[in-house]
Amino acid sequence: MTNFTVTPNRRNASNSRKWTRYSKDIFPMWLADMDFPAPRPILKRLQQAVDHGVLGYEFATPALQETVALRMERLYKWKVSPEAVLAVTGIVSGYTVAARAFCLPKKGVAIQTPVYNEFHEVKNNVGIPQVDIPLVKSVKGNIISYEIDWDVFEKQVKKVRMFLLCNPHNPLGIIFSRKELTRMAEICIKHNVLIVSDEIHSELLLGGNKFTPMARISREIEKHVITLIAPSKTFNVPGLFCGFAIIPNKDLREPFEKEMNHLCLHVGSMGLHAANAAFSGQCDGWLNELRRYLTGNRDFLVDYVTKYMPNVRTTVPEATYLGWLDFTQAGIEGSPYDFFLKNAKVALSDGGIFGREGEGHVRINFGTSRKLLKEGLDKMRKALDSI
Ligand SMILES: Cc1ncc(COP(=O)(O)O)c(C=O)c1O
Repeated sequence: MTNFTVTPNRRNASNSRKWTRYSKDIFPMWLADMDFPAPRPILKRLQQAVDHGVLGYEFATPALQETVALRMERLYKWKVSPEAVLAVTGIVSGYTVAARAFCLPKKGVAIQTPVYNEFHEVKNNVGIPQVDIPLVKSVKGNIISYEIDWDVFEKQVKKVRMFLLCNPHNPLGIIFSRKELTRMAEICIKHNVLIVSDEIHSELLLGGNKFTPMARISREIEKHVITLIAPSKTFNVPGLFCGFAIIPNKDLREPFEKEMNHLCLHVGSMGLHAANAAFSGQCDGWLNELRRYLTGNRDFLVDYVTKYMPNVRTTVPEATYLGWLDFTQAGIEGSPYDFFLKNAKVALSDGGIFGREGEGHVRINFGTSRKLLKEGLDKMRKALDSI
């Protein structure tokens, strides 16, 4: 049994960005990494590499490609050939490479806002237009949820060359259903729009939720999809920068690979070792325990907001360790991010960085021990009570 209730001190004993960006009196609940050590088989594999002592150039071996392909088959009955699996230096690099390879000066990228802040950087990094497809919020009591407006989806997505899907969605925690994925894909195919599906959070499932990769829906859809996955979020090794692009269609894979080589994006050997151990199945017991713990944290967060934070609304995330809190009715002047940083000494992610629709909201990272989660929420509650 893994003990997720005790987390190592990251502020003094590491250069953790999450724990060192703000001054020592600030409690960090922002950046998307968890406070838990990675599972033993990954640490053991990395230790073996260190013990060997020679840290020379390495590459993604056919065995690693096969390990990734087999994981897709085991998890989703999705058969991909190992050669369709390319190692990338991360998911952000993966979709940026895709945008460079396929977008045009006037036909850029579409994103479903509010969405992961780095999605908004593609337009700047690649020099292409961005089209927003806002998700529509609905409110029931203090619970909020978001849906696709299909008319807006089609109207907007047909203006672009690439639809960048975030599934499961950061920061909203949505897992899109097969029906929704099918409809999105059909519209994209109709308008000759490439789908790049960021599935980095796909194994962080809460409760009994299930996940289907966009490309798994049908062989026809698969031809139009670049799937991006990584062990980084699931097994908490994001600092090793290793992910995978799965591109069964050769006509997409070759230009993607060419662009990647052009940019000299080589994955570090430690990331490859970690990925091999992570996707081999040896860490799945740890992952099941993690999911149970994170589900408990999600429920704790939703209960806490419901009981102790009047006029604050929350999502009930289906996946990820990211919550999304709505303070638009809470009587806070200015942004809730500034309010909590100043008055609660808690650093959250400012909702505005995820798109205009995110203003008045914050993203909260609950990938930590329940004790620390409660400590952060208590600080926020006290600040709210003082309004
Ligand atoms: C949806 C999403 N994509 C990509 C990333 C980052 O991926 P990488 O560090 O592999 O570039 C994150 C990190 O928070 C994320 O939430």
